[in-house]
Amino acid sequence: MRKKVIAGNWKMNNDLQASENLIVELKNLLLNNKANCEVIICPPFTSLSEASKLIDGSEIKLGAQNMHFEDSGAFTGEVSSSMLKSAGCEFVIIGHSERRHIFGETDEMINKKIKKALSAGLKPIFCIGELLAERDNGTTNDVIKRQTLNGLDGISVDQIKNIIIAYEPVWAIGTGKTATPSQAQEVHSFVRSLISDKYGKKTAENVIIQYGGSVKPDNAKELLSQNDIDGALVGGACLKADSFMGIIILA
Ligand code: PGA
Repeated sequence: MRKKVIAGNWKMNNDLQASENLIVELKNLLLNNKANCEVIICPPFTSLSEASKLIDGSEIKLGAQNMHFEDSGAFTGEVSSSMLKSAGCEFVIIGHSERRHIFGETDEMINKKIKKALSAGLKPIFCIGELLAERDNGTTNDVIKRQTLNGLDGISVDQIKNIIIAYEPVWAIGTGKTATPSQAQEVHSFVRSLISDKYGKKTAENVIIQYGGSVKPDNAKELLSQNDIDGALVGGACLKADSFMGIIILA
């Protein structure tokens, strides 16, 4: 049985004070309702170090939203894997569709980031997902296959165990449109078959595949009850402690 993983992607929201408030609220809610799933929060870089102190002793784990694939050097504005490690991160979101589509990240860059994150001891939350036009013209599986296999190029069977995959159809992110549970399940099962072909059935059965895209307390239950949906990567609904908690208790 795979343990479900609920991660909150705060995106570019919450200054230091707002981050502290949200974490304290979430911690309090978790004291009263024990989670049956793993809970991860991914605040902006500026809040990571403080977040790491605040979550100490709780069941909340910490992730970042991005990183660079080089170790250090003249990359103004970028943050390295070892910086994230030293700020207390255990996870890092890589290849989010906003990074791919707004900041021009390619499969090749994402693959380098995944490798660098793993070598630094960070667990990547590796995002994949098709655009609406790709779904409409029937190329969803081709896109998902390309993103998955390129992102995992050169990743060993031991390394895949430390990677979470997040399927996020781009047309469902921040739009209020969710993939139906069966649309999501179909892609999740396809992703697991890709992992099975590359790494074997047993390994594929243990890989966590999260769904993301307008997940809320009122649609999470049905999504999370699908066979191959092992959790959620939550954007908008993780910015309020009670709605994030509303998803956590369903997992
Ligand atoms: P959303 O974002 O829940 O606001 O759609 C999800 C994500 O981008 O990870």
